[in-house]
Amino acid sequence: MSNPYRHLQTRPIAGALGAEIDGVDLSRELPAEVFEEIRRALHENLVIFFRGQRLTPQQHIDFSARFGELLEVPFVRALDGYPAILPVMKGKAETKRRLFGGLWHSDMSYAQEPPLGSALYGRVIPPYGGDTMWANMYRAYDTLSDRLKQMLDGLNAVHSAVRSYGSGGAVVNNGDPAHKMDVRTDDRAVQEVIHPVVRVHPATGRKALYVNSTYTLRFDGMTQEESEPLLQFLYEHAARPEFTCRFRWSEGALALWDNRCTQHLAMNDYDGFDREMHRTTISGDRPVGVALRV
Ligand SMILES: [Fe+2]
Repeated sequence: MSNPYRHLQTRPIAGALGAEIDGVDLSRELPAEVFEEIRRALHENLVIFFRGQRLTPQQHIDFSARFGELLEVPFVRALDGYPAILPVMKGKAETKRRLFGGLWHSDMSYAQEPPLGSALYGRVIPPYGGDTMWANMYRAYDTLSDRLKQMLDGLNAVHSAVRSYGSGGAVVNNGDPAHKMDVRTDDRAVQEVIHPVVRVHPATGRKALYVNSTYTLRFDGMTQEESEPLLQFLYEHAARPEFTCRFRWSEGALALWDNRCTQHLAMNDYDGFDREMHRTTISGDRPVGVALRV
């Protein structure tokens, strides 16, 4: 059992992961001991939520940057004057086949060094719909059979942004004014990177399943056809309802998630309403796999 917090009140929102945190004003420069409790709450809950915040873009950046350097996200136009802020938006007149972030994914797993986490701040929230779900990828791994764990421990997977951001990719709009977001393809979309299928979290030492249906293409050394059945099983297994939480947004809520041991999905169920969020993306390390035992 973890130590109680001295500066925070945490309220879990589901059995698998996710907790709301009360008693913190993120617009202020937090004392180190409060910040360290927030970091611990993130490691224990995987995604944490702070409601009722009033943050300028700079305050959002300042809080996020305490976890690490902020990344400029490729393919998507940043907020004017704030290259570290990714505006995640859908207008009320937009009807989309595929929403930005609309399939289960871990942010930017197509990068050599994917982000540690992201901080998403709600600015305009529809009256209903637009929830976000997260899934606990430690639990996805822990609940597999021992033999399958051993097999996955020794595998790598190939990731790329091609299906989302390649030419004709699912979320590319090339600046079409009918879309609030400006998402363009470029050469980086076809680059492939290799990550372990099971990664060891650098802070907690726990193993997490690290494949996702948005950016994982195949197991390294296997064809797509050979990989597909097992990958599909893992995607469905990881998204079992009891491994997830679902957050109902409110204006001024901030969600901070650990991208190394979770996946998330944006719900596309609010046609006719505006939704505007600001995301910062915190740099992370190259994923480390399970050391081979001798
Ligand atoms: Fe995302």
